[in-house]
Amino acid sequence: MEGKDLVLKYFRDNITSTSGEKIFFSPGRVNLIGEHIDYNGGLVFPCAIDKGIYGCVKKNSTGKLNLFSANFPSTKCSIKLDELEYDEKHEWMNYPKGVLKSIFELTDQKSGFDIAYYGDIPNGAGLSSSASIELLTAVIANAFLGLNLSMLDMVKLSRDVENKYIGVNCGIMDQFAVGFGKKDKAILLNCETLEFDHVPFELNEWTLIITNSNKRRELADSKYNERRSECESALKMLNTQIDAENLCKVSESDLEKHKNLLTENEYRRAFHVISENRRTIYAAEALKKGDIRLFGRLMNSSHISLKDNYMVTGKELDSLALNAQKMDCVCGSRMTGAGFGGAVISLVQNSSIDLFKNELGQIYEKECSLSADFYTVKASDGAGEI
Ligand code: GLA
Repeated sequence: MEGKDLVLKYFRDNITSTSGEKIFFSPGRVNLIGEHIDYNGGLVFPCAIDKGIYGCVKKNSTGKLNLFSANFPSTKCSIKLDELEYDEKHEWMNYPKGVLKSIFELTDQKSGFDIAYYGDIPNGAGLSSSASIELLTAVIANAFLGLNLSMLDMVKLSRDVENKYIGVNCGIMDQFAVGFGKKDKAILLNCETLEFDHVPFELNEWTLIITNSNKRRELADSKYNERRSECESALKMLNTQIDAENLCKVSESDLEKHKNLLTENEYRRAFHVISENRRTIYAAEALKKGDIRLFGRLMNSSHISLKDNYMVTGKELDSLALNAQKMDCVCGSRMTGAGFGGAVISLVQNSSIDLFKNELGQIYEKECSLSADFYTVKASDGAGEI
């Protein structure tokens, strides 16, 4: 059964059998290149993927949110609209609660909803399942309450929910990619101005494959915050000598010139950010010219910099990306997302996909005693009704 049919079945079986429901889809995302750049004001290059979360919805007049997820069937629950405060016990339901709470603060139009969710992206794999359910809930509320919020409004609202309600200090990339995804296009986003360009993502004889390391992202939030503050303090020190609104505005020569102001770690983080931002510009140019091999080489260097300078990869992501990089059927491989576990993306020759999965799967199991999952994905449209 397709995701759309499955979510309808879950809705009918677990929430209500009456008709009149609508179905929505919200994608996950991968970042092709430009990692740990969004909160440093530079360019990122993500795309939405054709795996994500489906939502089947009806308004109700009971003043309650009746939520069900096929992925977490034991947590079905009914919540009053005036009880939308964050509650740890509500686990994944805090995402829809947080989004609806923020939306209800913008309007007099409140309503209860019956929503069944079904996701075909793995949680905790760094593919932005949280941004996906946030945007999904935002587009649902926008459509049913007739609010006319723009996609950018909903992207910002979802990012604020993640920062202030959930308490994860992320940048805007994930919500933006999930909201503004477009079939067969990647999104070159300037995170300072929020200007963006949909770049054709045409891979011809190559296929984009996600490998989930199945390594739990332990310490991900605390390490993420640590990296953010290292970047902030590097900028602060550099600003004693040069004007730059963000780290991506610092030139490589200025960084070298004022290296002595920074600790070893601050210097490495800044070096990654400045070089990664430049790689992202080159990668977008390479893609526009159809030079996938150059694009792949830039992906490889991105991973090395995330490993050696930003230090966010770890044994598992290194095993997957570095072994993939050695394979003849691969033209580029790198971790995607925050790191510290999660997923790797690779560009693999169409004719060698099975070989790639078998060989890399075996090496990974031997090196890390974990089994990897593989997903073939395409760039897809952003969140909306289907
Ligand atoms: C996570 C965050 C994003 C971004 C990436 C790293 O996915 O949610 O905002 O910072 O890490 O590029």
